[in-house]
Amino acid sequence: LSILALHGPNLNLLGQREPGIYGSLTLAEINRLLEQEAIKLQAKVVAVQSNHEGVLVDAIHDAVGKHQGILINAAAYTHTSVALRDAIAAVNLPTVEVHLSNIYRREEFRHHSYISSVAIGQISGFGAQSYLLGLQALVHHLREKS
Ligand code: DQA
Repeated sequence: LSILALHGPNLNLLGQREPGIYGSLTLAEINRLLEQEAIKLQAKVVAVQSNHEGVLVDAIHDAVGKHQGILINAAAYTHTSVALRDAIAAVNLPTVEVHLSNIYRREEFRHHSYISSVAIGQISGFGAQSYLLGLQALVHHLREKS
């Protein structure tokens, strides 16, 4: 089982970026935790980060045939991107949405997600743990299906 972990804009700055909101782990450290969790789950994670919407759209298209599911923190594109939403709908790969912060207790503009209507579910507010919980949920979902 192979999972594509997609990280959106500004997440390359994790560790130094608003640590009070996003925590002190770097993206590399989060990816390492994901890899370790994947091993426990007898799965594999391939991580991609981009600050560019089109690169993320391409990565979703390219996932077909290579990965069985997508774990995505679309970051700010969560709240703006019909293109990412449509890409997920187009490829039809089970997708779990994650956020480090609880987007519902923050500014109003973060309360709406374009991703959640095409996701199996969403995990928001548990810091780096959101990613691990999301990976567990996605792998369980995929195993249940098959
Ligand atoms: C985020 C929440 C978004 O609102 C924000 O734009 C991010 C990160 C999170 O993981 O908490 O960049 O997706």
